[in-house]
Amino acid sequence: MTIPEPTGVHAAWLPPQAFLAVGSRRVFAPGAGVIRDEVVHACARHGGRLADAGEEADLVLALTMAEPLPAAARAVLAGYAGAIGEQSYLLARHDGVTVVLADDPAGLLYGFFHVVRLGEPAFRGPRATEHHRPAVHRRMLDHWDNIDVHPVMGQVERGYSGGSIFWADGAPRDLDRVRAYGRLLAACGVNAVAVNNVNVHATEAHLLTDRLGEVAAIADGLRPYGIRVHLSVTFASPIVLGGLATADPLDADVRAWWRETTEQVYATIPDFGGYVVKADSEGQPGPFAYGRSHADGANLLADALAPFGGVVHWRAFVYNHRQDWRDRTTDRARAAFDHFAPLDGLFRDNAVLQVKYGPIDFQVREPVSPVIAAMPRTRLAVELQVTQEYTGQQRHVCYLAPMWSDVLGFRFWGDGRDVAALASDIVAVSNVGDDPYWTGHPLAQANLYAFGRLAWNPHLDPAAVLDEWIDLTFAPAGDELRRTLHAMMDGSWRTYERYTAPLGVGFMVRPGHHYGPDVDGYEYTPWGTYHFADRDGVGVDRTRATGTGFTGQYPPPWSQVYESLADCPDELLLFFHHVPYGHVLRNGSTLIQHIYDTHFAGAEEAAQTRLLWDKLAGSVEADLHARVKERLDEQVRCAGEWRDQINTYFLRKSGIPDAHGRRIH
Ligand code: GCU
Repeated sequence: MTIPEPTGVHAAWLPPQAFLAVGSRRVFAPGAGVIRDEVVHACARHGGRLADAGEEADLVLALTMAEPLPAAARAVLAGYAGAIGEQSYLLARHDGVTVVLADDPAGLLYGFFHVVRLGEPAFRGPRATEHHRPAVHRRMLDHWDNIDVHPVMGQVERGYSGGSIFWADGAPRDLDRVRAYGRLLAACGVNAVAVNNVNVHATEAHLLTDRLGEVAAIADGLRPYGIRVHLSVTFASPIVLGGLATADPLDADVRAWWRETTEQVYATIPDFGGYVVKADSEGQPGPFAYGRSHADGANLLADALAPFGGVVHWRAFVYNHRQDWRDRTTDRARAAFDHFAPLDGLFRDNAVLQVKYGPIDFQVREPVSPVIAAMPRTRLAVELQVTQEYTGQQRHVCYLAPMWSDVLGFRFWGDGRDVAALASDIVAVSNVGDDPYWTGHPLAQANLYAFGRLAWNPHLDPAAVLDEWIDLTFAPAGDELRRTLHAMMDGSWRTYERYTAPLGVGFMVRPGHHYGPDVDGYEYTPWGTYHFADRDGVGVDRTRATGTGFTGQYPPPWSQVYESLADCPDELLLFFHHVPYGHVLRNGSTLIQHIYDTHFAGAEEAAQTRLLWDKLAGSVEADLHARVKERLDEQVRCAGEWRDQINTYFLRKSGIPDAHGRRIH
């Protein structure tokens, strides 16, 4: 197999130059497969070569069961007491030889890309044996791709990078791009991909049956990179595909239909990963129609998948999207917990409840979903959103790793257990499309890379991950480029937060497409996303004392911290409390002044970001520079619009002028 290098597509974090250190060495890589191909390819370019058994080598990449292992590898193995384990590897440098050892091909592949990431330092000095293993077994990207182009959502729902990499014009695409995608994902640690939208429309429903061959082809493209393919299915499949009168999860015919259909799936794709289901959510069919619970629904599919080792990812994103905005007692934030917490312990072992990181919907700032703490007897996946639906739609620079790092490191209790430790899978909605830069905004590639890296090790420092991405993508990256990209990206999530909806209140976006400001756009809609601003104050009272009681879904200490106006962290204040404009925040500012200040500051930071990028003209490739510049122009415009609409709105509501007398309209 050759290295996939689709023409006209940016190399992202695997440009030829990133392989200089490996490719200029003598490499002993006894196994066949993608690692050997990578080594041959890199050496052909950079002057190194494959070493034969018995020959001296600078780098050994071998499975532990390989025969014969070179002396350095034998020494590393002999000096290590523990087992290496699945998807894991040992990295060491012994007697001038860099050694990577793994028990399985996936582990070896991750180890190989680790050496690529290290570059020259991988070949310097001694290195004591390091054991690297992923924090979670499954690190998964969900594509919200359709085969057809949806009249409202386009081909990729919430996609900002062109069409699908899997389908074009209603048919599967050439697999080279898919293989190149798999290679990029392996290099950052992702090992599962769901290929189609969770909102399963009529055409895409058939991927489960008569169009299964298309899924099999994608699986073939991704398999060499250790990636298993999953499929979003509609709960109504027995009706829409099987001609049954019901999809009742307890009906014998329905159970048989899923069993037989799943057998067919595995006959075609023996390493198929499983199903993803959005049920009883935003109009999708589900078990409620039959008076059954979501455990009944999930277990139906789990039972069909179990004989083959498959899993069902059952999404917890279930809420009433036909709410009456006049009704202050219904709180969308409560919904997932209210639906699912009582079902803890009722799900099969191969049913994974997939929970969005926040209780509402991927906003720039939300508290961590209390569902994650409430289901100790259920396997959980934490769902993040790499696609920037609510964070600038890949027109704005918004490096999301700092947010994910906060979420995954959040501790519900006083002890050491963090969110990452509670999750069995880490999942995210992909930001990739058929755009030449993969992600529309070239700098949004860093989010895709960082997702994989944080899913592998949630405790990595986001700035260090950004460094890795810079070093690989712009190899060799000079100091000025590195400094500038850090200045533009490290704080970009907080910058975005500053010029958009304040202090966790969320949803001040334009309804439908969710881009740009529209403060009251959702205020009188059925969607349950309100801010309740009036002349006196703003925010949602979710306390137990006077509000919706949502704070009670958290264990202590957070149930108390969020309940208390004095203790609630500023950045989440309006998520939990309705607060007068004159309220003094923990940072010493009044609420209204804080809104003005952050919006002036955020828009100014966006303008500074553009200036920084302008100075890089000539030091990065011209097309890439132009693409980012065009996006930054739009970011600066849009940030100004956010600043003016938010500030004007709150000035008009409150009548309280800006203490600094700046221009508000
Ligand atoms: C958001 C998004 C929808 C998506 C939904 C989901 O609400 O706007 O497009 O379908 O999340 O996660 O299912």
